[in-house]
Amino acid sequence: MKQQLEAIKSTAIAAIGECDSLAQIDEMRVKYLGKKGELTALLKQMGKLDPAERPIMGQLVNEAKAGLETLIGERSAVIKKNETALKLKEETIDITMPGKAHKTGKLHPLNTVLNDMIDIFQSMGFDVVDGPEVETDYYNFEALNVPADHPARDMQDTFYLGENLLLRTQTSAAQIRTMENRKPPIRIICPGRVFRADEVDATHSPVFHQIEGLVVDKGVTMCDLKGVLEQFAHEIYGKDTKVKFRPSFFPFTEPSVEVDVSCSECGGKGCRVCKGSGWIEILGAGMVHPKVLASCGIDPEVYSGFAFGIGLDRLTTTRYKISDIRLLFENDKRFLDQF
Ligand code: PHE
Repeated sequence: MKQQLEAIKSTAIAAIGECDSLAQIDEMRVKYLGKKGELTALLKQMGKLDPAERPIMGQLVNEAKAGLETLIGERSAVIKKNETALKLKEETIDITMPGKAHKTGKLHPLNTVLNDMIDIFQSMGFDVVDGPEVETDYYNFEALNVPADHPARDMQDTFYLGENLLLRTQTSAAQIRTMENRKPPIRIICPGRVFRADEVDATHSPVFHQIEGLVVDKGVTMCDLKGVLEQFAHEIYGKDTKVKFRPSFFPFTEPSVEVDVSCSECGGKGCRVCKGSGWIEILGAGMVHPKVLASCGIDPEVYSGFAFGIGLDRLTTTRYKISDIRLLFENDKRFLDQF
């Protein structure tokens, strides 16, 4: 029986030494120390022994049990340590690897210029209002003193969506909507997209942007119009910029003007950008026609006002020296990344 015990001990010691997972260790515990294990089986055979030998043999088996128990404990400690070491190695982060850059988004140049313009006009007390891109004939033409057979309709080649609906050709439609909804004093700007059936080239696009301005109050004069637009031009183009008012015609303003600023590229000497003239046209404006005020329920005997429409695209291309307006609408990332 002693020999049997020695045999079990030495195979167990060898087997435990070879274990390299906790599952295998558990198997060993069951195989040698469990209720149906080999050492337990040995203890059950004690009855066959001489009564004098029983205590001696019992002690030997118990010692062997204790020995194997310690061995199993030690081995599982080693296995656990190895497993943690392995896990740590697998999960290490190589902090010397280059990081992934997260690019931040940027504003489109049109939006940058628009935000500047909004700041300028808000600082002068203007509210920003919005208007629909799909308009009725009434708001885009009729109420602006352009009846159906008026020759001024030829100035704006319109996209019609049906009998009465069209894509607005000018943000001036917002003047009417505002005067219908607000009582004077009115001081608003309305930025937005406008549409005309123009041939596409370096300076024309069927969609472009305007910023409409409207002021209506008692005693508003052409002087106020000049003051506001000069202030605006100086803030956008710099204090040394010259501003020129040319007589012009719009059916909904009387008198009407077009406003030029001295070319920021050549300072007024004449260059490719200003086509040799030294001036760049940036907006149309005028005193709101009494008929327009009246059609919105505002008494032209009591109130007067001025309006202006600024082209945002021209302002943007001249500020950033962009040679082709189409670049503003193509959304080519290589172009946009430059801003
Ligand atoms: N709506 C005019 C245009 O598109 C510009 C304008 C606006 C003129 C307001 C006078 C007053 O050409």
